[in-house]
Amino acid sequence: MELMQTLRSRRSVRVFDGTPVDRAVLEEIIAVAALAPSRMNRQPWFFHVATGDARRRVAEVMAMTTSYLDEYMDVLGPEGVERAARFYAELGHAPVVIGVATPKTEDRFETRDFAISVGASVENLLLAAADHGLGTCVLSVPHWVADQLTNVFEIDPEWEIVSLIVLGYADETPRPQEREAEVAVFLE
Ligand SMILES: Cc1cc2nc3c(=O)[nH]c(=O)nc-3n(C[C@H](O)[C@H](O)[C@H](O)COP(=O)(O)O)c2cc1C
Repeated sequence: MELMQTLRSRRSVRVFDGTPVDRAVLEEIIAVAALAPSRMNRQPWFFHVATGDARRRVAEVMAMTTSYLDEYMDVLGPEGVERAARFYAELGHAPVVIGVATPKTEDRFETRDFAISVGASVENLLLAAADHGLGTCVLSVPHWVADQLTNVFEIDPEWEIVSLIVLGYADETPRPQEREAEVAVFLE
């Protein structure tokens, strides 16, 4: 697929058919994620790729979020909360879940630039996956299970988990989400 077409057609996928993903494909996707630009080429990202039993342990931790989701009742409504709880607990039957980690830092400029760098690498990963015919969805790391996820993914104590990505072959065709029409101003 051409890059522009991949950029335009990528959608977040939340229902997967469970088919395993080849290790070689996962390795290529991660390698491409690591080609993203970063502040002073610090490459402040590390990908913890969980399949099989490790993936099951992540799902067990994410299932613990269910009892906290009531906080979001006002925003999501009862149906939305139930859908979110099910998605978190089952990870949409995705065979792969990736924990994304970044170095801990107190420096506010580093914090900002690390976030942009990690975001760039995550987007590379999503697009590389799409190019392989794979669906993905980025998940916020619920703060209430961050410690448990850190343990399951065996993240270095100097690093912190900042994102989760579920990945697999899609079993749904998500509708495009609305986008703001005006997102830029052109100055001369
Ligand atoms: C940082 C980040 C956090 C996200 N967290 C969640 C999440 O917790 N649950 C979820 O279902 N989708 C999550 N998403 C996916 C967004 O909802 C999705 O990207 C957005 O609605 C636009 O839809 P699209 O990706 O299909 O274009 C997240 C995306 C990003 C980039």
